Amino acid sequence: MEVASIAKKPDVKHAELVKWVNDVAKQCQPDSIRWCDGSSAEYDELCATLVDKGTFIRLNPEKRPNSFACFSDPSDVARVEDKTFICSRRREDAGPTNNWIEPKEMKHTLNGLLEGCMKGRTMYVIPFSMGPLGSPISQIGIEITDSEYVVVNMHIMTRVGKRVIELLGSDGEYVKCLHTVGAPLKHGQADAKWPTNATTKYIVHYPEERSIVSYGSGYGGNALLGKKCFALRIASAMAKEEGWLAEHMLILGVESPDKEKSYVAAAFPSACGKTNFAMLIPPKELDGWKVTTVGDDIAWIKPGKDGKLHAINPEAGYFGVAPGTNFKTNPNAMKTMEKNSIFTNVGVTPDGDVWWEGMTKEVPKDIIDWRGQKWDPASGKPVAHPNARFTVPASQCPSIDSDWENPNGVPIGAFIFGGRRSTTIPLIYQAHNWNSGVYLAATMGSEMTAAAFGEVGKVRRDPFAMLPFCGYHMGDYFNHWLQFGRDIPNPPRIFGVNWFRKDDNGNFIWPGFSDNMRILKWVVEKIRGKSNAVESPIGWMPHYEDIDWTGSGFTKQQFDSIMMVDREGWKKELLSHAELFEKMYDKLPKEFIFMRELLLSSLWRSPEKWSLEAEEI
Ligand code: GTP
Ligand code: SPV
Ligand code: MN
Repeated sequence: MEVASIAKKPDVKHAELVKWVNDVAKQCQPDSIRWCDGSSAEYDELCATLVDKGTFIRLNPEKRPNSFACFSDPSDVARVEDKTFICSRRREDAGPTNNWIEPKEMKHTLNGLLEGCMKGRTMYVIPFSMGPLGSPISQIGIEITDSEYVVVNMHIMTRVGKRVIELLGSDGEYVKCLHTVGAPLKHGQADAKWPTNATTKYIVHYPEERSIVSYGSGYGGNALLGKKCFALRIASAMAKEEGWLAEHMLILGVESPDKEKSYVAAAFPSACGKTNFAMLIPPKELDGWKVTTVGDDIAWIKPGKDGKLHAINPEAGYFGVAPGTNFKTNPNAMKTMEKNSIFTNVGVTPDGDVWWEGMTKEVPKDIIDWRGQKWDPASGKPVAHPNARFTVPASQCPSIDSDWENPNGVPIGAFIFGGRRSTTIPLIYQAHNWNSGVYLAATMGSEMTAAAFGEVGKVRRDPFAMLPFCGYHMGDYFNHWLQFGRDIPNPPRIFGVNWFRKDDNGNFIWPGFSDNMRILKWVVEKIRGKSNAVESPIGWMPHYEDIDWTGSGFTKQQFDSIMMVDREGWKKELLSHAELFEKMYDKLPKEFIFMRELLLSSLWRSPEKWSLEAEEI
């Protein structure tokens, strides 16, 4: 087949794009090329192809219409941070928290791997928009992939289609996203159900070129390149240059009984509750309060002419953590995934539905586990992989905000930052001011989860929940955030939360989920000047009485234990701040040194253990 003649579609006027597609085809040597049009016919056809290949299991249409389940290769279940590279020209532009290899050297390595890597496969060209088409905050990407799984997931997660090509015109800018599973097929060789390269994976970003090459993985953030690679790593580098922000944040709307609406953006690390918080349903006792969903994972935020920060969700779907999701913890997510959904690494029941740990109390009989085998209850192994995910269209979410596709975004009133911490960090506090809020976010720590390959449970510093996603030097990133406080007349207030503090028996103290509304209500009323707080060494904190406990049995003692500040714990905390700072000393904002000093000295002067309930400070 003459590659060039296939690639040069009559309706593609962008000569440089056609050349890139041809060049990639020459190198990767696919059997055929297909330009994706984003239509539902295309989606249905490729899902059927995946069913034929044995990758997809069509779920029972009566229980889960137009939905599919699949099991990945056990070597390909999460993002691979140790194989993720920011290949800026200069090492110091990637900074100490990113893997870096000189771009020329990386290209040499990748060229070797890409040669013939798509043999026996179809190469798909996916034109997509991150954000509503034509919004001044949106961006265009073209993903080339040899995975049908990626194409159908991109259909849900982004806006794919011919209109993107039209919008590009003859010389529009786009981000080049090249993906391959890295598993060429020899003539006549049968394909694997989940093709992947079990030994070699590379997730590579060239921020100056605004391009991405991903080799060897078919999973989530490694392969759906619009998401972490583009919307966070490349976009954060663009945002730094152009004066905006690309963040690992959910965006939600809060409406009070008097119909006043505020928008909040919140950054929690992977698998730490963004999806749940974004779709929160308030406890029925908090009558008249309503939460609406704009996004659950990524926010692009630009300063508007009104002096406010405006945010869009660049995605069109949710790629959410399945385990733990049920009709109590997240009814909106459960309803969103009732149809037109893809499930990866969940269990499949004999009647053709899905199941995961935490969905119901009882494990359904004769269930197939994420390894595709009949689950053995005696094995002690989970049915679903802890990082099992659902891919669902955002438009199906019952709590979707009426402005979720507003091209101008929604105005942000508050930022919330929270890690998964079983000790030390209180349930809720507000930073003294913008700079101390940036400090709070920059020094955030979290216990690691199954969403990334690594040691689960270990606390690591995860500044702004962006450690794996910042496409440039983290010190420059901190300075960029500080700059917003200087430029914006009345910047959003900044809050810290921790839903995950545990008691001495290892149980969560805070009920979480819908009860998080009580904290969100305090936050929203705080920015409206309506809730009370006391200034403490670490920031503004509410008294027990300042939170609405209607219908809750949460006691003053429990509140006391979850708000308690333990000086020794905080001293350790400050030591690890210093460790983080030493790593990036060359570009660390000097403000941070002073703020750490101030925090240390005020903690020194306060009692060994204190809380507002036990003691006034
Ligand atoms: P990514 O998609 O990986 O970026 O993560 P996310 O932050 O959207 O994760 P998600 O909301 O899916 O988090 C899932 C995990 O957080 C599950 O283990 C939930 O049980 C847990 N979780 C969410 N909200 C709460 C809460 O309020 N309290 C407690 N204890 N756990 C929560
Ligand atoms: C995360 O890990 O933060 C995710 C999932 O949102 S993935 O898209 O796989 O990165
Ligand atoms: Mn995420």
